[in-house]
Amino acid sequence: MPAARLTLDPRFTVGAVHRRVFGSFVEHLGRCVYDGIYEPGHPAADSDGFRTDVLDLVRELGVSTIRYPGGNFVSGYRWEDGVGPRESRPRRLDLAWHSVETNQVGLHEFARWNDQVGSELMLAVNLGTRGVQEALDLLEYSNVRSGSALSDQRIADGTRDPFGVRMWCLGNEMDGPWQLGHRSAEDYGKLASQTAKAMRQLDPSVQLVVCGSSNSAMPTFGAWERTVLEHTYADVDYISCHAYYAEKDGDLAGFLASAVDMDHFIESVVATADHVKAVLRSEKTIDISFDEWNVWNQDRFHDEDQITDIEQWPYAPRLLEDVYSVADAVVVGSLLISLLKHADRVTSASLAQLVNVIAPIMTEPGGPAWRQTTFFPFALTSRLARGNALRVELESETYPTGKFGDVPVVDAVATHDPETGRTALFLVNRAIEGPVTVTVDAAALGGARVLETHTLTDGDPYAANTLAEPNRVVPGENKSALLEDGVLTVELPPVSWTAISLG
Ligand code: AHR
Repeated sequence: MPAARLTLDPRFTVGAVHRRVFGSFVEHLGRCVYDGIYEPGHPAADSDGFRTDVLDLVRELGVSTIRYPGGNFVSGYRWEDGVGPRESRPRRLDLAWHSVETNQVGLHEFARWNDQVGSELMLAVNLGTRGVQEALDLLEYSNVRSGSALSDQRIADGTRDPFGVRMWCLGNEMDGPWQLGHRSAEDYGKLASQTAKAMRQLDPSVQLVVCGSSNSAMPTFGAWERTVLEHTYADVDYISCHAYYAEKDGDLAGFLASAVDMDHFIESVVATADHVKAVLRSEKTIDISFDEWNVWNQDRFHDEDQITDIEQWPYAPRLLEDVYSVADAVVVGSLLISLLKHADRVTSASLAQLVNVIAPIMTEPGGPAWRQTTFFPFALTSRLARGNALRVELESETYPTGKFGDVPVVDAVATHDPETGRTALFLVNRAIEGPVTVTVDAAALGGARVLETHTLTDGDPYAANTLAEPNRVVPGENKSALLEDGVLTVELPPVSWTAISLG
């Protein structure tokens, strides 16, 4: 049986775990909003039309921040369409997803729902078809208490207190040729800088995210970040990263190693941001907002699947509804490990997306809502990862992959909360063939004992939860975990994700 060793020591701190790392993302796309979180005719709908059964699952998932309303959608969005009396809101054509947008859910409804979740609202402004003025208008409408045209308009529209939105994305994926209003790094950098300066003139407390690359394979990757930051370094707080992973050509071994790419992506963007910092002689450090990440089997969505007859564009179509397997959940768990390993610089992140669209939660119109396999590593990591992220000085056997060369079979990270004294350890076993024994030096934790263990695995790595079988895959206790004389041993089944809480 292959083996791995690691050490748990609260002194090996990477950085504080920011709650914003457990963010998610709601886009007006497919059935994420309509027939997802919002379905007025559903038996579980509240007076606003939001499904309370979905709300309960979103709360259980433990999302800290929700990015809204897009995504590609935001690059053609007019926020004014989604405020004011619902009966007079316009139906619009959404060019990003070839759908009809009814605007029945807009800023007020979404903010109210978000408050019920107990999550922070993170807004994106449209820098595709719009610019500085519209971003300023939305900020005034959202954050000014009263006494100006747009703040008074918000009050007249039904919300007395400002929404108080702190986090703002300056557009979405502006490096992508698919994006409405796609620009060069130079042009986008200038626009983002002007928009950021103007927004700060109105509300100096805003925290701003400038668009980085849509993925690490973009031809402009690296150069895009450098140029954009040269224009915006003084004006922004974060640069975004987006990444989606999928099993390609039956290469499960390579897919399970996807976090190797995420590690490289983060480290490259940190290096680029710090290079610009040095060139500009700046005192300030830019953090990463990894505000779209997930497994997404993009091969299942093709441009030719889009309906082209404009009069036929549908309302709430079933788009990007990936059914996630155990292997997908193990990758999601390992991507969370990668985010935590970089806790000093990744201080915000959003699992894309939340409901139905590449999502941990699925719904059926008029029917139930259920947890996908990927729900579990997210919910458990969000609940258990507290305090500081810790380096674990992992030694692991490796396995060969075509994509990334030799990759450690085990990946791991830990967190330690000085307030409660609790430590959480998160592990993946990427081996397809068999289990791995992990030996953990936990002497530095004093007389800690095992409080909880959770392992997600299945004899079939492609097992999934579906409408017909919503509880086919759930995590179970890992009874092999044993802590004696400061040494923890645990067996990780093949293709598995595990969380252990010690205290
Ligand atoms: O999350 C789905 C889409 O992926 C988003 O709209 C876009 O930003 C990204 O390309």
